[in-house]
Amino acid sequence: MNIQALLSEKVSQAMILAGAPADCEPQVRQSAKIQFGDYQANGIMAVAKKLGQAPRQLAESVITHLDLAGIASKVEIAGPGFINIFLDRSWLAAQAKQALTQPRLGVAAVEPQTIVVDYSAPNVAKEMHVGHVRSTIIGDAAVRTLSFLGHNVIRANHVGDWGTQFGMLIAFLEKQQNEHHEAIALADLEAFYREAKRTYDEDEAFAERARAYVVKLQGGDEYCRTMWKKLVDITMGQNQLIYDRLNVTLTRKDVMGESLYNDMLPGIVADLRAKGLAVTSEGATVVFLDEFQNKEGEPMGVIIQKKDGGYLYTTTDIACAKYRYETLKADRVLYYIDSRQHQHLQQAWTIVRKAGYVPESVPLEHHAFGMMLGKDGRPFKTRSGGTIKLADLLDEAHDRALKLVREKNPEMSEAELQQLAEVVGIGAVKYADLSKSRTTDYIFDWDNMLAFEGNTAPYMQYAYTRVLSVFRKAGVDVDSIDAPLAITEDREAQLATRLLQFEETITQVARDGTPHVMCAYLYDLAGLFSGFYEHCPILSAEEESTRLSRLQLAALTAKTLKQGLDTLGIKTVERM
Ligand code: ARG
Repeated sequence: MNIQALLSEKVSQAMILAGAPADCEPQVRQSAKIQFGDYQANGIMAVAKKLGQAPRQLAESVITHLDLAGIASKVEIAGPGFINIFLDRSWLAAQAKQALTQPRLGVAAVEPQTIVVDYSAPNVAKEMHVGHVRSTIIGDAAVRTLSFLGHNVIRANHVGDWGTQFGMLIAFLEKQQNEHHEAIALADLEAFYREAKRTYDEDEAFAERARAYVVKLQGGDEYCRTMWKKLVDITMGQNQLIYDRLNVTLTRKDVMGESLYNDMLPGIVADLRAKGLAVTSEGATVVFLDEFQNKEGEPMGVIIQKKDGGYLYTTTDIACAKYRYETLKADRVLYYIDSRQHQHLQQAWTIVRKAGYVPESVPLEHHAFGMMLGKDGRPFKTRSGGTIKLADLLDEAHDRALKLVREKNPEMSEAELQQLAEVVGIGAVKYADLSKSRTTDYIFDWDNMLAFEGNTAPYMQYAYTRVLSVFRKAGVDVDSIDAPLAITEDREAQLATRLLQFEETITQVARDGTPHVMCAYLYDLAGLFSGFYEHCPILSAEEESTRLSRLQLAALTAKTLKQGLDTLGIKTVERM
């Protein structure tokens, strides 16, 4: 049930009947000022002004046309022309009951779209590092959210698997294979890349071989192709371990690396030339864009093919957008990429639109995010200034969480503790990232993310186990309760309203790609449950009917928390 959408619809109908233009868009939202989960409609004043009417008078008229029979118990004008809507408690109870019995918590099915989500995108022969963490974690939350709503989601892992560096990497892999076993050679990708580069710089014969291999690889030479594929496979095999550990849904099938678009590039360049968009400038092929200006205030030139014939990152992104529309049949494409690549994307897409490769009706959205910073406010690095490897970061998360859960659960078995530590530690790293607005930089702070208080994974995971413990104590199986659900207390109404806002929350997250909105919602929900549990006794309720009714509200809370955390990719446990 999307209460907000329902009320907006009703209010706008009433406004039109009261004389407002047909395109009026009232804002209906839950007001923080009205207690116990009621809504307020806004936007009447603006319309009244247009119509030359007194706002309160228009509001009066809107109310006479507002048909909320069975939904609201009271509707009243507030302030200079707001309308307060008090939800009917039996209506709330009926909706909650329904949400409890429906498989998707009563969230309506959407009109399914094909949505391509570009995320994670590590580079071959390089270890995934903290810079890829945000893209992977936030992108996967978007994927899970959109899938839950019923969209056809295509995960596109735009792996950096192409470029001139592959000649060097192939030559080095060959050298290493002659000297050691290849598995050993690639065990430490970071060192492999570094050594390859050093050899390239120092050994002229090697450098020459490397350059020859690039040409051969691009020409489709079988040996080079096989060597290249080895590099990709080994890298992605290592990354897969991280994805699995992070509870990220990416698999090998989702790899759609830069190389995939390689065959399209000559055609794109020729087409952009034919369309008069691309011209030769100093030997290179360039598209000049009036939309962007260089330092001299002239249209900015975007190179799509270098003088030596090589293509660029932008050329690939032009082809890739075209492919996603034409071949994957995308209705919408989301890119989870660092905000520093914003201009790059805007340029590629401006060309894409001008060339007519993707119609305006198909949004290309850059869901940008800021950097991950250390506690000192500088880019997150190891103590010695190196990049932090993701695998090491996750090990540290596990160790820190283990210490915490061991302290809290001295009687728990070692095996259970280890498992719990993984769920809490990984959850903490992910949730810390997800719970902040993605557009800003964020400070990575172990103590904050592992705190059992505040908007953190451990708090949310613990809150979930607390709700479950109520059922254990009651000795009931929540799914088998067959009794009426009634809402009489304010706290019950408040909790029920928030529970029913799951749909409007998830709809917002799906639209904006902002998982922090889901985190804030779940955190608030957990807080409301505590208040409810404290003030509305469940186990010691006087009437059996009250006990059963409240148990159902608790059951819906548990399900909503679990489902919400699941859309974020955060695991839960039964006890902790
Ligand atoms: N591999 C790139 C990097 O590490 C990110 C690719 C993002 N996706 C894209 N379509 N450009 O910076």
